[in-house]
Amino acid sequence: MPIFLTKTILSIVLLLITFLAMLTMFEALGRSEKKFNVSKLMKVHRFNGKIYFVLYLIIAYFCIDFMVKTKAELSPRATMHAVFALTIIMFLLLKISFVRIYKQFYGQVKTIGLLIALITFGMVGTSGGYYLIITKFGTEKTFYKVTDYKEEITQKGIIVKTDAESIRKGKEIYENKCSFCHDPPMEQILL
Ligand code: HEC
Repeated sequence: MPIFLTKTILSIVLLLITFLAMLTMFEALGRSEKKFNVSKLMKVHRFNGKIYFVLYLIIAYFCIDFMVKTKAELSPRATMHAVFALTIIMFLLLKISFVRIYKQFYGQVKTIGLLIALITFGMVGTSGGYYLIITKFGTEKTFYKVTDYKEEITQKGIIVKTDAESIRKGKEIYENKCSFCHDPPMEQILL
Protein backbone atom coordinates (compact mmCIF):
# COMPACT_ATOMS: atom_id res chain seq x y z
CA MET A 1 0.00 0.00 0.00
CA PRO A 2 1.45 3.42 -0.92
CA ILE A 3 2.66 5.31 2.11
CA PHE A 4 0.41 8.29 1.33
CA LEU A 5 -2.66 6.08 1.41
CA THR A 6 -1.61 4.47 4.70
CA LYS A 7 -1.05 7.90 6.21
CA THR A 8 -4.37 9.21 4.94
CA ILE A 9 -6.31 6.28 6.38
CA LEU A 10 -4.53 6.63 9.74
CA SER A 11 -5.21 10.39 9.68
CA ILE A 12 -8.92 9.83 9.17
CA VAL A 13 -8.97 7.42 12.11
CA LEU A 14 -7.21 10.14 14.11
CA LEU A 15 -9.93 12.58 13.15
CA LEU A 16 -12.67 10.15 14.22
CA ILE A 17 -10.90 9.66 17.55
CA THR A 18 -10.79 13.45 17.95
CA PHE A 19 -14.56 13.60 17.39
CA LEU A 20 -15.08 10.93 20.04
CA ALA A 21 -12.79 12.77 22.47
CA MET A 22 -14.80 15.96 22.04
CA LEU A 23 -18.13 14.16 22.25
CA THR A 24 -17.24 12.32 25.48
CA MET A 25 -16.02 15.52 27.14
CA PHE A 26 -18.95 17.62 25.94
CA GLU A 27 -21.41 15.02 27.21
CA ALA A 28 -19.56 14.68 30.53
CA LEU A 29 -19.01 18.38 31.26
CA GLY A 30 -21.16 20.39 28.88
CA ARG A 31 -24.72 19.39 29.79
CA SER A 32 -26.52 20.60 32.87
CA GLU A 33 -28.57 17.38 32.89
CA LYS A 34 -26.31 14.42 32.16
CA LYS A 35 -27.48 11.94 29.57
CA PHE A 36 -24.77 9.35 30.15
CA ASN A 37 -22.77 7.99 33.04
CA VAL A 38 -19.97 10.55 33.60
CA SER A 39 -17.34 8.15 34.95
CA LYS A 40 -17.89 5.87 31.95
CA LEU A 41 -17.52 8.84 29.60
CA MET A 42 -14.27 9.79 31.33
CA LYS A 43 -12.98 6.24 30.95
CA VAL A 44 -13.76 6.23 27.22
CA HIS A 45 -12.13 9.66 26.93
CA ARG A 46 -8.93 8.47 28.61
CA PHE A 47 -8.70 5.26 26.57
CA ASN A 48 -9.43 7.26 23.45
CA GLY A 49 -6.63 9.67 24.35
CA LYS A 50 -4.16 6.81 24.58
CA ILE A 51 -5.10 5.57 21.11
CA TYR A 52 -4.72 9.12 19.80
CA PHE A 53 -1.22 9.34 21.28
CA VAL A 54 -0.08 5.99 19.83
CA LEU A 55 -1.52 6.78 16.38
CA TYR A 56 0.09 10.21 16.47
CA LEU A 57 3.48 8.63 17.17
CA ILE A 58 3.08 6.07 14.35
CA ILE A 59 2.13 8.72 11.79
CA ALA A 60 4.87 11.06 13.03
CA TYR A 61 7.36 8.23 12.54
CA PHE A 62 6.37 7.92 8.85
CA CYS A 63 6.67 11.67 8.35
CA ILE A 64 10.01 12.07 10.09
CA ASP A 65 11.38 9.00 8.32
CA PHE A 66 10.38 10.56 4.98
CA MET A 67 11.98 13.89 5.89
CA VAL A 68 15.21 12.22 6.95
CA LYS A 69 15.34 10.13 3.76
CA THR A 70 14.64 12.96 1.33
CA LYS A 71 16.50 15.68 3.27
CA ALA A 72 14.38 18.07 1.22
CA GLU A 73 13.24 21.51 2.34
CA LEU A 74 9.58 21.28 3.41
CA SER A 75 6.90 22.67 1.10
CA PRO A 76 4.69 25.45 2.55
CA ARG A 77 1.92 22.86 3.06
CA ALA A 78 4.24 20.41 4.80
CA THR A 79 5.57 23.24 6.97
CA MET A 80 2.06 24.16 8.13
CA HIS A 81 1.42 20.49 8.79
CA ALA A 82 4.60 20.18 10.86
CA VAL A 83 3.74 23.29 12.90
CA PHE A 84 0.28 21.85 13.68
CA ALA A 85 1.82 18.51 14.64
CA LEU A 86 4.48 20.06 16.90
CA THR A 87 1.89 22.29 18.59
CA ILE A 88 -0.33 19.28 19.26
CA ILE A 89 2.40 17.21 20.88
CA MET A 90 3.37 20.10 23.19
CA PHE A 91 -0.28 20.76 24.14
CA LEU A 92 -0.85 17.06 24.74
CA LEU A 93 2.14 16.76 27.08
CA LEU A 94 1.07 19.95 28.86
CA LYS A 95 -2.46 18.60 29.28
CA ILE A 96 -1.25 15.30 30.70
CA SER A 97 1.05 17.12 33.14
CA PHE A 98 -1.85 19.34 34.32
CA VAL A 99 -4.12 16.32 34.80
CA ARG A 100 -1.54 14.18 36.60
CA ILE A 101 0.95 16.46 38.34
CA TYR A 102 0.30 20.21 38.31
CA LYS A 103 -3.31 19.93 39.36
CA GLN A 104 -3.59 23.61 40.29
CA PHE A 105 -3.69 24.25 36.54
CA TYR A 106 -6.55 21.77 36.07
CA GLY A 107 -8.87 24.58 35.01
CA GLN A 108 -6.88 24.98 31.78
CA VAL A 109 -7.29 21.34 30.77
CA LYS A 110 -10.64 21.84 29.01
CA THR A 111 -9.32 24.70 26.89
CA ILE A 112 -6.16 22.81 25.97
CA GLY A 113 -8.26 19.78 25.01
CA LEU A 114 -10.37 21.93 22.70
CA LEU A 115 -7.26 23.46 21.16
CA ILE A 116 -5.82 19.99 20.52
CA ALA A 117 -9.05 18.97 18.77
CA LEU A 118 -9.14 22.13 16.64
CA ILE A 119 -5.46 21.92 15.68
CA THR A 120 -5.95 18.24 14.80
CA PHE A 121 -8.38 19.36 12.07
CA GLY A 122 -5.68 21.65 10.72
CA MET A 123 -3.08 18.90 10.92
CA VAL A 124 -5.22 16.29 9.14
CA GLY A 125 -6.53 18.85 6.66
CA THR A 126 -3.02 19.72 5.54
CA SER A 127 -2.12 16.05 4.93
CA GLY A 128 -4.80 13.40 4.58
CA GLY A 129 -7.44 15.99 3.65
CA TYR A 130 -5.19 17.43 0.95
CA TYR A 131 -4.45 14.02 -0.57
CA LEU A 132 -8.10 13.04 -0.53
CA ILE A 133 -9.05 16.17 -2.45
CA ILE A 134 -6.36 15.90 -5.11
CA THR A 135 -7.18 12.23 -5.69
CA LYS A 136 -10.87 13.19 -5.93
CA PHE A 137 -11.61 11.41 -2.65
CA GLY A 138 -9.59 8.38 -3.62
CA THR A 139 -11.60 7.72 -6.77
CA GLU A 140 -8.53 7.92 -8.98
CA LYS A 141 -7.26 4.40 -8.85
CA THR A 142 -3.89 4.64 -7.15
CA PHE A 143 -2.22 7.18 -4.99
CA TYR A 144 0.61 7.45 -7.54
CA LYS A 145 -1.90 9.66 -9.30
CA VAL A 146 -0.78 12.21 -6.75
CA THR A 147 2.69 12.36 -8.26
CA ASP A 148 1.25 12.35 -11.80
CA TYR A 149 -0.99 15.22 -10.84
CA LYS A 150 1.91 17.15 -9.39
CA GLU A 151 3.84 16.59 -12.62
CA GLU A 152 0.92 18.02 -14.52
CA ILE A 153 0.67 21.16 -12.44
CA THR A 154 4.39 21.83 -12.05
CA GLN A 155 5.62 23.13 -15.36
CA LYS A 156 9.14 22.16 -14.48
CA GLY A 157 7.95 18.60 -14.06
CA ILE A 158 9.81 18.24 -10.78
CA ILE A 159 8.09 15.57 -8.77
CA VAL A 160 9.06 13.87 -5.59
CA LYS A 161 8.25 10.18 -5.55
CA THR A 162 8.23 8.79 -2.07
CA ASP A 163 7.70 5.06 -2.49
CA ALA A 164 10.47 2.77 -1.28
CA GLU A 165 11.40 1.67 -4.81
CA SER A 166 11.93 5.25 -6.06
CA ILE A 167 13.93 6.17 -2.98
CA ARG A 168 16.12 3.08 -3.46
CA LYS A 169 16.72 3.89 -7.14
CA GLY A 170 17.55 7.50 -6.38
CA LYS A 171 19.99 6.46 -3.69
CA GLU A 172 21.70 4.09 -6.13
CA ILE A 173 22.02 6.77 -8.82
CA TYR A 174 23.27 9.31 -6.30
CA GLU A 175 25.84 6.93 -4.88
CA ASN A 176 27.09 5.88 -8.33
CA LYS A 177 27.05 9.19 -10.13
CA CYS A 178 27.04 12.08 -7.70
CA SER A 179 28.41 11.23 -4.29
CA PHE A 180 31.97 11.14 -5.66
CA CYS A 181 31.96 14.94 -5.69
CA HIS A 182 29.00 15.91 -3.54
CA ASP A 183 29.34 13.67 -0.53
CA PRO A 184 32.75 12.04 -0.70
CA PRO A 185 33.62 9.56 2.04
CA MET A 186 36.29 10.70 4.46
CA GLU A 187 39.01 8.36 3.07
CA GLN A 188 38.55 9.87 -0.36
CA ILE A 189 39.05 13.40 0.94
CA LEU A 190 42.18 12.36 2.83
CA LEU A 191 43.76 10.64 -0.20
C1 HEC B 1 32.75 15.71 -11.06
C2 HEC B 1 32.14 16.18 -9.82
C3 HEC B 1 30.60 16.23 -9.76
C4 HEC B 1 29.73 15.20 -10.00
C5 HEC B 1 30.04 13.76 -10.36
C6 HEC B 1 28.40 15.75 -9.78
N1 HEC B 1 28.48 17.07 -9.45
FE1 HEC B 1 26.92 18.30 -9.03
N2 HEC B 1 28.19 19.85 -8.79
C7 HEC B 1 29.57 19.75 -8.85
C8 HEC B 1 30.14 21.08 -8.65
C9 HEC B 1 31.63 21.41 -8.62
C10 HEC B 1 29.04 21.94 -8.47
C11 HEC B 1 29.07 23.44 -8.22
C12 HEC B 1 29.01 24.13 -9.56
C13 HEC B 1 28.96 25.64 -9.39
O1 HEC B 1 29.32 26.13 -8.35
O2 HEC B 1 28.52 26.27 -10.35
C14 HEC B 1 27.84 21.14 -8.57
C15 HEC B 1 26.55 21.65 -8.44
C16 HEC B 1 25.44 20.85 -8.37
C17 HEC B 1 24.13 21.33 -8.09
C18 HEC B 1 23.77 22.76 -7.83
C19 HEC B 1 23.90 23.02 -6.37
C20 HEC B 1 23.54 24.43 -6.02
O3 HEC B 1 23.66 24.72 -4.83
O4 HEC B 1 23.14 25.19 -6.89
C21 HEC B 1 23.30 20.28 -8.11
C22 HEC B 1 21.78 20.27 -7.81
C23 HEC B 1 24.08 19.11 -8.41
N3 HEC B 1 25.39 19.51 -8.58
C24 HEC B 1 23.57 17.85 -8.51
C25 HEC B 1 24.31 16.76 -8.92
C26 HEC B 1 23.76 15.46 -9.17
C27 HEC B 1 22.27 15.09 -8.96
C28 HEC B 1 24.77 14.67 -9.55
C29 HEC B 1 24.70 13.18 -9.94
C30 HEC B 1 23.77 12.86 -11.00
C31 HEC B 1 25.98 15.46 -9.57
N4 HEC B 1 25.64 16.75 -9.19
C32 HEC B 1 27.23 15.02 -9.89
C33 HEC B 1 30.32 18.63 -9.06
C34 HEC B 1 29.81 17.39 -9.39
